[in-house]
Amino acid sequence: MTQLLEVDDLVVSFGALRAVDGISFAVTPGETLGLVGESGCGKSTTALALMRLLQGATLRGAARFAGRDLLALDEAAMRRVRGAEIAMIFQDPGTSLHPLIPVGEQVAEVLRAHLDIPATEARARALELFRKVGIAAPEQRLRAYPHELSGGMCQRVMIAAAIACGPRLLLADEPTTALDVTVQAQILDLLRSIARDSGMAVILITHDLGVVAGLADRVAVMYAGRIVEAADTRTLFANPAHPYTRGLLGAVPQLDRGWDEDLPTIAGSVETALAAKGCRFAPRCNFAYAACAERPPLEAVGEGHVAACWKVR
Ligand SMILES: Nc1ncnc2c1ncn2[C@@H]1O[C@H](COP(=O)(O)OP(=O)(O)O)[C@@H](O)[C@H]1O
Ligand SMILES: [Mg+2]
Repeated sequence: MTQLLEVDDLVVSFGALRAVDGISFAVTPGETLGLVGESGCGKSTTALALMRLLQGATLRGAARFAGRDLLALDEAAMRRVRGAEIAMIFQDPGTSLHPLIPVGEQVAEVLRAHLDIPATEARARALELFRKVGIAAPEQRLRAYPHELSGGMCQRVMIAAAIACGPRLLLADEPTTALDVTVQAQILDLLRSIARDSGMAVILITHDLGVVAGLADRVAVMYAGRIVEAADTRTLFANPAHPYTRGLLGAVPQLDRGWDEDLPTIAGSVETALAAKGCRFAPRCNFAYAACAERPPLEAVGEGHVAACWKVR
């Protein structure tokens, strides 16, 4: 199938630190890809690199999006892509909305930045978008300031801004992390229905496997700057191959577990792993052996299922 986005051996370095260390993945039109991993493994860096919004980073590799390499576009061309063809919901909701501008105006601004329409039409479309993302009393809410809205409502405004120009790809970076559980579920439902109705592709970034389970068609698991496993969501959950993925799945709360039981967590941390030459998960892995001193390639372990582990080849 023709890919909408094809990332080929993307490397992102901050000086000597390789936050993203040669990752490749593709997204087809309309597909939702979950990009999952613990904090610090390079998920946000990947998304910001695709948007070319990183300061002080060196990028290598290619990211072909609808026939162009995003990494090779000049800033003027990139500005036309950003917001219009690829939109992003940023991880830190507190800094994404301007505190002193009514939220409706902020959404109208996005529209006017990309479409040649008069202010009145932009306002009318913003109102329409507020309805679409399920904001109650939308006429009043257009005039509200961010601090007057709940976290869930602010996230709906951000989603409205992101989908305003009908992007072909949405990068959603931890879109529900700051929200309480009930609101999380509502926002995930909203993203699901928007993706389904619009045919927009989504890269859903999260540290929470529970979030991808309900929303992603396919999942790529990142660890310390590398993709260690990728498969369709059903396969990944039913038949995880990489020890890291298995560890993450073990750490997902089970409904049938009692509250007083400790959930298994993975020992060790990501930071120390970023410097390792071989398998970066080896220091935390129960199955590590001599071969793991070399970097394991991402290889097929099943139909549409790849993993980077010497033990599961
Ligand atoms: N601007 C930056 N300068 C230096 N290091 C950075 C910068 N941004 C991110 N990093 C580092 O890159 C790594 C990956 O970070 P990030 O992409 O935010 O991870 P994630 O989103 O998966 O939690 C971390 O070690 C982080 O400290
Ligand atoms: Mg992040």
